[in-house]
Formats: sequence, structure tokens, C-alpha cells
Amino acid sequence: MNSSETGKPLLRALKGKITDVPPIWLMRQAGRYLPEYRQTRQRAGNFLNLVYSPELACEVTMQPLRRYDFDAAIIFSDILVIPQALGQELEFIEEKGPVLNPVRSAEAFARLSPAKFAETLAPVYEALRLTCAQMRKDGFGRTTMIGFSGAPWTLACYMVEGGSSRDFQHVKSWAYRDPESFSVLIDTLTEAVTEHLLQQIAAGAEVVQIFDSWSGVLDHNQFSQWVIKPTRRIAEAIREAYPDVPVIGFPKGCGRLAMDYAQNSKVTALSLDSQISPKSAVSLFQPLMPVQGNLDPVCLLAGGTALEAGVEDIVAHLGKGPFIFNLGHGIVKETPPENVEKLVALVRGST
Ligand code: CP3
Repeated sequence: MNSSETGKPLLRALKGKITDVPPIWLMRQAGRYLPEYRQTRQRAGNFLNLVYSPELACEVTMQPLRRYDFDAAIIFSDILVIPQALGQELEFIEEKGPVLNPVRSAEAFARLSPAKFAETLAPVYEALRLTCAQMRKDGFGRTTMIGFSGAPWTLACYMVEGGSSRDFQHVKSWAYRDPESFSVLIDTLTEAVTEHLLQQIAAGAEVVQIFDSWSGVLDHNQFSQWVIKPTRRIAEAIREAYPDVPVIGFPKGCGRLAMDYAQNSKVTALSLDSQISPKSAVSLFQPLMPVQGNLDPVCLLAGGTALEAGVEDIVAHLGKGPFIFNLGHGIVKETPPENVEKLVALVRGST
């Protein structure tokens, strides 16, 4: 191996290097599709107990590495720990997802108490430290540790709607009606996200990813104000404190606005959803930055020849530039674990 080929493959790709074999990890790689995850989750009692128990969070973070030897671990946590740390009530209800006590005005937001912010998030950093030590112990020396956060806009969506939503009417109408008070919420979230990511880096994260799952519901002006501007502030603050730590941005579902994001958000790399064709991403985005993505999670679930064709399409186009193989969104819980094994073999060229 020549010396330019040394180092962790994921970090090399994020530095703009072209790797012979693309590094691979999957969003939601630790989760319900794995029987060992379901077992640990049962032991924890509920999802939030799992998130806030460093030993158990470490264990489930390690599970997909042990099965598939991915190029990255992503710390097991959730984006909604930030609203909770800011004082909002949060519950996960089986088959329904997150439920929060909605915050629909500046006054309601001011009533939340962030007094326990650091204390609430401390177990996440402890889980990171434990997982980094475990990875060293178990010989995962080429595996990169990823920390993450929700982006301010996506966190505001959950905080204001009180959970998932069909049309995001409450959060969007607040932003249109009273941008001044809405920006108090976004600014507070921007600071909280920055702090949370810096702490994760201090605890061992070598890369951070910002999930903006609902960036696709905004018009172009609102996108610029509530997605790009806060993301740029976060990316710049991280770069100032840790110039070598790459920031991956994932503006899911934003379609053509992804170009605006790539040019102006100051992230190091762009995670693409499945709607963008790999062929167009080669000329649109790869000249600007490394890209990550973008197999349809349901194509992975389906497997067979569709999976082979999907992987071939992505690797043949994007593999010629700086690239990380991933899905276009999180793995779905019905996915057969053997399809993931097949996927890894296809990407690594060993089938
Ligand atoms: O990727 C990983 O392996 C790390 C862990 C991770 C989780 N959530 C664990 C999780 C990450 C990176 C997230 C991010 C997250 N959480 C996002 C952004 C990405 C996206 O999917 O758009 C969002 C929007 C959330 C909020 C959230 N958490 C929802 C809406 C739900 C319910 C939906 C569902 O799949 O049930 C969750 C729950 C959740 N977060 C699970 C896992 C493994 C499943 C819960 C369980 O085990 O019962």
C-alpha cells in the first residue's frame, strides 16, 4: 500500500481524495432491522432509556460494525435530545414516533427551562467516549466515529408541530407571520446545535453530520433564511474550533435548492437523498465537494437485481470522485439484514 492510501477511508474521502473502494456506512445503521438491536432495546425498556444509557448506546452503536465492518460508526442517539435538553417534554410512542408538548409562540418558548441542558446531554458524550474506547479495543482502527445533530430548522419543525406533520402549517406560518420572534427560536437552536456538536467532537467524534430532514418544505427565500444561514453559522463555528473536522450536511428533500445549499452553507460534504440522479450529481455537486449517498432505502429492502442495478448506477458515476456510499435516507426496519451484507459486498466489489 502506498502512503497516500493510508488513513481512515472515510476521512480520506472527506478530504477530497478518490478511494479505490468507496467507504460505506448507512444512516440508521443501528436500529430495529437488527435482531440484536431489538434485544438490547427490550432490555432498556424504551427508546429514550437506550439513548440515555451510555453502556447500552455504546453496545448498539457497535452492533452494525461487528456484522458489516462499516467504515463509520454513528453514535446511537436521536436528534430530539436537543429539544428535550432545552426543557421540552418528549416521549416516543410505539408505532407513532415522537410526541412533544408543542411550542407555538415566543412566549411558550421563553417558558421552557434550559437549566439542565448540559446535564441532559452528558450521557451522549459518555457514550461517545465509551464507544471510541471499545472500537480501539476491538480492532476497529480504520473505522471513523461520526457525531450528529438535527439542524435548527428540522428541530424547530418537531418543537412547533409537536411531532411529525403532514404539512408543517404551524411552524411555517409562525416563520412567515413573525420572522423576528421565530428567529429567536432558530438562533437558540443554532447555538444549542453548535454546542452539542463541539461537545461530541471533544468526546471523540471525528466527523459530524447535520440532519435537515424537513428542509424540503420551504420556499427558496425561507430555505435561505432558516436552512442555509443557521447551517453556515454552525459549520463556521466548528471549523473555527476544529479546522480538521469535516461537517456533512444532509438537506433532505430540497430538490434544486441543494445547489444553493452546496454553494452557501459552508459544509464540507453533501449527503444526497435518492431523488438526485448519480449522473447529474457528478457534474453538479462533486466538483464542489465530496458527496455521500444515495441508494433508495426501499431498494435495499427489496434486494435482488434492483439492488445490484442501484449500487452499480451509483458507484459507476460517483465512484470516480470523492464519494461515500450511503442511503438517501435512513434504513427501514423491515430490511432483511442479509440484504445489507449483500450491499456491503457489492460496494466493496467482493461479489
Ligand atoms: O443512524 C444511526 O444509526 C444513529 C441513530 C439515529 C437515530 N435517529 C436513532 C433512532 C439517528 C442519526 C437519528 C436521526 C433522526 N431522528 C432524524 C433525522 C434523520 C431522519 O430520519 O430524517 C429524525 C427526523 C429523528 C426523529 C425520530 N426518531 C423519529 C421521527 C423517530 C420515529 C420514527 C421511527 O423510525 O420509529 C425516531 C426514533 C428512532 N431514532 C429510532 C432509532 C433507531 C427507532 C425507535 C425505536 O427503536 O423504537
